[in-house]
Amino acid sequence: MDFEENITGRRLVSAAGVADELGADVDLRPRKLKDYIGQEQLKRSLSVFIRAARNRGEPLDHTLFHGFPGLGKTTLAYIIANEMGAGIKVTSGPVIERPGDLAAILTSLQGGDVLFIDEIHRLNHVVEEILYPAMEDYQLDLVIGQGPGARSVKMDLPRFTLVGATTRTGLLTPPLRDRFGVILRLDFYSAEELVAIIKRSARLMDIAIDEEGALELGRRSRGTPRIANRLLRRVRDFSEVGGHPKINKQVADEALNILAVDRYGLDEMDRRILLTLIDKFQGGPIGIDNLATVVCEEKNTLEDVYEPFLIQSGFLVRTPRGRMATVAAYEHFGRTVHPGLARQQGLFE
Ligand SMILES: Nc1ncnc2c1ncn2[C@@H]1O[C@H](COP(=O)(O)OP(=O)(O)OP(=O)(O)O)[C@@H](O)[C@H]1O
Ligand SMILES: [Mg+2]
Repeated sequence: MDFEENITGRRLVSAAGVADELGADVDLRPRKLKDYIGQEQLKRSLSVFIRAARNRGEPLDHTLFHGFPGLGKTTLAYIIANEMGAGIKVTSGPVIERPGDLAAILTSLQGGDVLFIDEIHRLNHVVEEILYPAMEDYQLDLVIGQGPGARSVKMDLPRFTLVGATTRTGLLTPPLRDRFGVILRLDFYSAEELVAIIKRSARLMDIAIDEEGALELGRRSRGTPRIANRLLRRVRDFSEVGGHPKINKQVADEALNILAVDRYGLDEMDRRILLTLIDKFQGGPIGIDNLATVVCEEKNTLEDVYEPFLIQSGFLVRTPRGRMATVAAYEHFGRTVHPGLARQQGLFE
């Protein structure tokens, strides 16, 4: 389960998965690396590592994916297993509470299997310590019992590939991070890549959409395939109810306007954050704690859920003195840029 799930509720442009679409999402997942759209550099490296491991008849090195929610980390874990012709066991950091839980999973692995641990940064440290020798030497090293009766159990494990996913590598402890042979980052997708993803999903779901309709959706999907797929489903509802045979630019535009997703994919909360900065604080800088209080949102949610995309799209900057709205944000909302801000952002030298 995604950690944003409970804090974002039903936000339409949330990158976090929502329980009722997880089943639907699975069918949209590409199963081969060649069908995985975008992330070209990552794919190039990964395909070399996969081929090399396969040629040597060895499991792939332990691999860590990091990137914001909904960019395709879980999808890649399944692709690795598939391309390696291996089995996969899926779990997540918060689910493994005790060392024994992890031991049970590790001892159930077959040689070559992929063990996928989602949200791996949320493993507790006692569990994490079991993982070190397992990753390094394929050894299980477990203490059973407590006090004088406690004894240590050592066991050989089959060679396996640990695939970890995290939203930020900075959240991982250095010893854990160091045990991954391969660390790959996922970036936000371009509008063109999202168009390709939307067209593929539309084909799989039997939805009629033209190029311009797909582009309208792609531009408004915050660089995130999961949001693209979700917007596609919602816009399909509008087009069916409105009796449109096909999703074109106009249908997409009208539906997304009703859904309050603007032309950059910003929703109510994004707008509230930026307009608070602009209208109440002359663009900032303002500290994150203050900002959180004024927009009535938790600081962590602001940092993990809202900020990354606002920063990536150039509407917000983090400075040592706090958050600032950029000139682009002023322009997006049709507000006049004051000279102080323009000067600060290097527009008037
Ligand atoms: N490169 C891609 N090509 C096509 N579809 C993709 C791609 N990446 C992701 N998707 C689609 O987006 C959805 C979300 O991807 P996925 O679940 O792999 O993201 P994630 O990074 O694991 O997210 P989280 O951090 O929330 O676990 C999937 O249903 C998948 O169909
Ligand atoms: Mg995932």
